Amino acid sequence: MMKKRLIACGVCLWTAFCMLEARNEKPAVYKDAKAPTEKRVEDLLLRMTMEEKVLQLSQYVAGRNTNANNIGEEVKNIPAEIGALLYYSTSPRLRNNIQKKAMEESRLGIPVLFGHDVIHGFRTVYPISIAQACSWNPALVEKACAMAAKEARLAGLDWTFSPMIDVARDPRWGRVSEGYGEDPYTNGVFAVASVKGYQGNNLADGEHIAACLKHYIGYGASEAGRDYVYTEISPQTLWDTYMLPYEMGVKAGAATLMSGFHDISGVPASANHYTMREVLKGRWRHDGFVVSDWGSIVQLISQGAAEDLKEASEKAIMAGVDMDMMSRGYDKYLKELVGEGKVPMEIVDDAVRRILRLKFRLGLFENPYIRETTEKERFLQPEDIKIAEKLAEESFVLLKNKEKRLPLAADTKVAVIGPLGKNRWNLLGSWTAHGKDGDVVGIYDGLKLELKDPSQLLYAKGCDFDGKDESGFAEAVATAGKADVILLCLGEKRNWSGENASRASIALPKIQEKLAMELKKTGKPIVLILSNGRPLELCRLEPVCDAIVEIWQPGIAGGKPLAGILTGRINPSGKLPITFPYATGQIPIYYNRRQSARPHQGKYQDLTIEPLYEFGHGLSYTTFEYGDLKASATQLKRGDKLSVEVAVTNTGDRDGAETVHWFITDPYSTITRPVKELKYFEKQTIRAGETRTFRFEVDLLRDLGFIDGDGKRFLEKGTYYVQVKDKKVKLELID
Ligand code: BGC
Repeated sequence: MMKKRLIACGVCLWTAFCMLEARNEKPAVYKDAKAPTEKRVEDLLLRMTMEEKVLQLSQYVAGRNTNANNIGEEVKNIPAEIGALLYYSTSPRLRNNIQKKAMEESRLGIPVLFGHDVIHGFRTVYPISIAQACSWNPALVEKACAMAAKEARLAGLDWTFSPMIDVARDPRWGRVSEGYGEDPYTNGVFAVASVKGYQGNNLADGEHIAACLKHYIGYGASEAGRDYVYTEISPQTLWDTYMLPYEMGVKAGAATLMSGFHDISGVPASANHYTMREVLKGRWRHDGFVVSDWGSIVQLISQGAAEDLKEASEKAIMAGVDMDMMSRGYDKYLKELVGEGKVPMEIVDDAVRRILRLKFRLGLFENPYIRETTEKERFLQPEDIKIAEKLAEESFVLLKNKEKRLPLAADTKVAVIGPLGKNRWNLLGSWTAHGKDGDVVGIYDGLKLELKDPSQLLYAKGCDFDGKDESGFAEAVATAGKADVILLCLGEKRNWSGENASRASIALPKIQEKLAMELKKTGKPIVLILSNGRPLELCRLEPVCDAIVEIWQPGIAGGKPLAGILTGRINPSGKLPITFPYATGQIPIYYNRRQSARPHQGKYQDLTIEPLYEFGHGLSYTTFEYGDLKASATQLKRGDKLSVEVAVTNTGDRDGAETVHWFITDPYSTITRPVKELKYFEKQTIRAGETRTFRFEVDLLRDLGFIDGDGKRFLEKGTYYVQVKDKKVKLELID
């Protein structure tokens, strides 16, 4: 009896205690904005069920996908617990509605992460990435990315799948347009600039978004320039060519990375334990997450790496893919895989932690919703358009200027001819996010604004981008006859480059070349304006043109700066970050190749081995003269400090900007090295007649040293050269 009474008393006391506790209940730690992020992550993780964890690791699509390469079934009934969504809208309201469901209908109220391909702008579209690299102006690229981040965040996004930093040496591959060219260091510098621009100093300030380095790693080595295929990458090449940009981007704080569609020498990128778990998460201690590429987990089956989606999911998560973009494998099989002991719970927890961490860093728990502004308030702000114009200006490359044909004299009558003369849509480039052709100032539009007298401007289309229709040739020739100069606007349509847009030949379609030949017969000078997403084969066009300006796909604001360059208001300063082959048959051709055993032999019987335009090529309306290189020391020991300087004089009669590229050559090494490697660059404006000094602070291990097939940097005694153009200084590392 006594015992029973005691028990009853105990139960009463416990109930009372619990009720008191409940009344005083503190908010959960993960909801406490003041608690340290890691504590919040751990607290939340402890509360999550397996089902909730698995959904955090999944990314679905909100609404219908607009990427033509990834058309699939529309996802209906998105669960409130979903980790991330691909978001194709520009409306903060839609995002807020979806987010409301996550916050209010899911048990733990974990906000959704909204991601999209904001590659070169959101609504204000600036030049494609390969063009941006021509500016050699990372500070400007950073500004452009910051501007894109702001537009995107105000429209409802938290995350962009950019920058793409795949070193690319095959211009047949359509995605050369999305990266920064053939050089590892250049890709690295622009990776850092974009990450800084997108992410700012505080991801939670409502104006920045998380960046994503892609496609980790080596996607640019796609065989024969085709997309989604095998890549043959030795461990040595993986490290000396492909890793550097990623390492630089990770060090700059990139929040996420995307794996790839490709197979890296037998182990697909989305199942590659070495690159993701060992290098990225192990050695580099990256604490963000890796998202698969679209469906790249299920595609492990077509690649022959997994028999079914379950095995593919196991391989991907074990290798280090934390989030599954649209394979629908993690949500289907992870629970089962853990139950069967094939995937340890710690692996799942590690992935969830990484995703939650970013959500906390983005401030999504405190501010899950976006302020609902009008389109006018959030897009195409005058200061954004200025940045887009400036970046376009600096990305244009004057490839040829025979007998100073450009700039045009003030009263020149110009015949704008060609399929791109009045076309706006194609100037936007691939991945234009929410760009509209109505926002674009095209080539003709720009000249119309620039030229004082409208009668100076004539136009004829001449022909289309491709096909056989020559019926416009006669009008084009007649129009050219009335003008002083032909502005021939040729190039590619925007969907000829980008994803799944490989071309077996990088020449322009015959109809465009034929139009040029017809116009040449008029005897009028031809200024060729090229808009394209890859280096082109220009060996037939180049001889018939007096001047050539490469404008790439400049986005919305190319027309005005181009007109400024043509009239001489602007002095061009862009230089190529990728080689223009003489002809397609030379591919792959890039400046940092290794030495040949017989440099005097091994050439083509039917083609030159020289490119048409080499890496770094780009003309100005002024001339620059380089002095000799001066090194602070030429005999060095490990750990010494070294700086090398060069004086550059503007010897022409107008101000101009010059980019100095600093290369290192190591003629003999245990592991053979490229003939030269870019280690630093700097751009400065130099007034007419002025001399400016450019300085390269050399870090001996980083810049003279090399890397082996497992990422170990080494520095050997011996001779090195620092090189700028044809000037060299010899260094001896004696100890
Ligand atoms: C592309 C990625 C892109 C993703 C999402 C894929 O097809 O390869 O670069 O980020 O789609 O749109």
